[in-house]
Amino acid sequence: MVAAVRVHKVGGPEVLTYEDIDVPPPAQGQIRVKQHAIGVNFVDTYFRSGLYPAPGGLPFVGGNEAAGEVVEVGSGVSEFKRGDRVAYVQGPGCYTAERNVPADRVVKLPANIGYEQAAGMMLKGMTVEYLVRRTFKVEKGMNVLMHAAAGGVGLILCQWANYLGANVIGTVGSKEKAELARANGCHHTILYREENFVARVKEITGGKLCDVVYDGIGKDTFPTSLDCIRPLGMFVSFGSASGPIAAFDINLLQFKGSLFATRPTLNTYAAKREDLLSITAELFRVVGSGAVKIPINQKYPLRDAAKAHRDLEGRATTGSLILLP
Ligand SMILES: NC(=O)c1ccc[n+]([C@@H]2O[C@H](COP(=O)([O-])OP(=O)(O)OC[C@H]3O[C@@H](n4cnc5c(N)ncnc54)[C@H](OP(=O)(O)O)[C@@H]3O)[C@@H](O)[C@H]2O)c1
Repeated sequence: MVAAVRVHKVGGPEVLTYEDIDVPPPAQGQIRVKQHAIGVNFVDTYFRSGLYPAPGGLPFVGGNEAAGEVVEVGSGVSEFKRGDRVAYVQGPGCYTAERNVPADRVVKLPANIGYEQAAGMMLKGMTVEYLVRRTFKVEKGMNVLMHAAAGGVGLILCQWANYLGANVIGTVGSKEKAELARANGCHHTILYREENFVARVKEITGGKLCDVVYDGIGKDTFPTSLDCIRPLGMFVSFGSASGPIAAFDINLLQFKGSLFATRPTLNTYAAKREDLLSITAELFRVVGSGAVKIPINQKYPLRDAAKAHRDLEGRATTGSLILLP
């Protein structure tokens, strides 16, 4: 038996139940990972609340990313052996001291990346890689707007876009978050709960507006975000921290300046193993070189997963959150 946090019925953070579970030996194609650190992401709350149905039904173990060491290898697996240091995004199923994972979703960790760092960046950092290099190629001199710039994805994206030479504008919920975003590569911050963020973006860009807006907020910032984008620019809706965007008339994109809009997910971008490997290689490169740092600003024992969810949904966190088994 191993310690885990399971969801027996969907609902608020209180449904996260700390208990012992059985983990069978790894099946064909799987490896068993002793987890050293587990990431907490907004998507974990979507599964817990029922916004996203868990693929295997109830009950399910929460969590979508972790890092640890291989302790057992199933038949047919040749790429990994006992003792390998690994990390992965695969969920739900990560809020546990040990689990079996399909080997083809796992990557080996370079020696200069620690377990906690890996758990704080696999899902969020891979997401930023595809957002700034694949969904829309951020280039030197571009104006980029990132909502929730002090969040987990936010602090990584600000640093990465800055590293690529962009002018980075970030919205944040407080003065403290503004300071933190600025310390992580964001050139201009906007307190979007107090200020009109469209007016501020116009002012900051001298009326040129942004080449791309990365919006993980959803309901509360739509359709206003579209007014921050230059003609033929790109709207990237990659999450819904405030609730999903309601159905809208596609003609809106015409009236806002022939905009492009996309709603991407890491699942698609990293679906092929070759893409998973190239995304993580680039992530490990920028983190290994020091160009992008992974701020892990909250750590909780695994049994306190409910508190981690409350803090994340209550906008009380910055950077990455991890659970320690
Ligand atoms: N599509 C993908 O592949 C993908 C992958 C990873 C993450 N995501 C998305 O990226 C977004 C950020 O994820 P994260 O894990 O890094 O979370 P996070 O940004 O650390 O936390 C969410 C932040 O959103 C802001 N926010 C605004 N309105 C909110 C509301 N009503 N309730 C809660 N928070 C609100 C808060 O920042 P302020 O106080 O500054 O407003 C809060 O700190 C989420 O939407 C997530 O689903 C998408």
